[in-house]
Amino acid sequence: MGNQPQTTASRNRRIILFPFPFQGNINPMLQLASLLYYRGFSITILHTNFNAPKISNYPHFTFISILDNHPEDERFYKSLLVDFAPDFIFKQDGADALRDELELLLASGKDEPVSCLITDAFWHFTQSVADSLNLPRLVLRTSSLYSTIIYSSIPLLDDCGYFTLDDSHLEEQVVEFPLLKVKDILKIGIKSNKDPYAELIGDMVKQTKASSGIIWNSFKELEETELERVQHDFPILNFLIPLPKYLTASSSSLLDQDRTFFPWLDQQPPKSVLYVSFGSISKVDEKEFLEIAHGLVHSKQAFLWVVRPGFVKGSTSLELLPNGFPGERGRVVEWAPQQEVLAHEATGAFWTHSGWNSTLESVCEGVAMICSPFRGDQPLDARYMSDVLRVSVYLENGFQRGEISSAIRRVMVAEEGKEIRERVRVLKQKANVSLMKGGSSNESMESLVDYISSL
Ligand code: UDX
Repeated sequence: MGNQPQTTASRNRRIILFPFPFQGNINPMLQLASLLYYRGFSITILHTNFNAPKISNYPHFTFISILDNHPEDERFYKSLLVDFAPDFIFKQDGADALRDELELLLASGKDEPVSCLITDAFWHFTQSVADSLNLPRLVLRTSSLYSTIIYSSIPLLDDCGYFTLDDSHLEEQVVEFPLLKVKDILKIGIKSNKDPYAELIGDMVKQTKASSGIIWNSFKELEETELERVQHDFPILNFLIPLPKYLTASSSSLLDQDRTFFPWLDQQPPKSVLYVSFGSISKVDEKEFLEIAHGLVHSKQAFLWVVRPGFVKGSTSLELLPNGFPGERGRVVEWAPQQEVLAHEATGAFWTHSGWNSTLESVCEGVAMICSPFRGDQPLDARYMSDVLRVSVYLENGFQRGEISSAIRRVMVAEEGKEIRERVRVLKQKANVSLMKGGSSNESMESLVDYISSL
């Protein structure tokens, strides 16, 4: 990581941050918190017990648990709507608890007044609480500008009938967003504007617009074409800061990171290893899992594959793998220090689910991608990386061993791969320049610090 921030001694303002309790949301919020700490602010983190951050890794922060302190409370149970989220994610009925906590913090902060509340965009209920206390709320949006623009247009897309189109329309273009095909819209995973997930997104968009400003985990040169639309749709302060360029996310990892493969990786030739990981939530069925394994073998390329516990629905995944897999050409681990792997000189490409952190981390390290998005913002970012920036190959039709091995060879071996690598190298360069004095990310960071200091 370039440009390690400096610690400043004087601390006379406090910032309260509240991450959404999933790995892909916790990482950028804790990165932002560290960055603000290095800029002289004291930090309080509100968090749920569900997926609580590793408090011992942040002795200089204050942590307060909120919303699910009583396990017998029904809100603690897994939601009936999605298999990975507790009910309180959808109900967002924690306004009283949050107000009580904030009132205490505001009253106790005489020497260190609280400047603002920064919450994940998905914690939409926090806006009215902050308003009632006259506390400015900033939003951290952990996804791309592009996908957020599409999310803010879900009512329009629903009115146009896109979410109910049948399979005969999958390859058609979306007239309102010509970059997208109908299948990209369907892969978001909602069926209509009334879908609970769509309602969560709708509330997220509405209360983000009502906030004082948005901190985007991105940089101007990466999504320049989307800026005008963002400023139109979200006419508030917009700060674009590529957090993985400043800090890794290792200390906020919820799972232990395996490092035992590094001696093997160190011995591989430059740019010869495919890193494979599908993020912290996505799951495959047994058939898809085996297609991935066979595709990797058929590609004849070296690989490092992250198979997270629970990645295969209903199975102890490693038992399913063919005899002799992965062999000398590959390594399988449960969880890795991803940014270190991406920064390693042996890493030649990243086969990703196109989660926004993974995408941005890959771009920041100049690593070409193969995109296999699952749901939500991922299909939108996969399309943007493949068709606008042309830094990836998009595996559009799920997991099929033949398509997989040919995509891997296109990126790792073919001339096309060299061109993709060159384009992503240029993007990495732009990210580096944006951090320098006068660069876009540097200016965004400075304006954010100035803005918070002025509150
Ligand atoms: C999801 C969405 O896909 C994402 O776009 C949204 O903003 C948040 O929710 P997730 O599926 O977890 O996130 O993917 P991603 O956004 O890529 O985040 C995964 C994080 O876990 C990355 O920061 C990555 O570095 C880290 N990781 C992943 C590890 O530390 N080790 C691993 O082995 C794999």
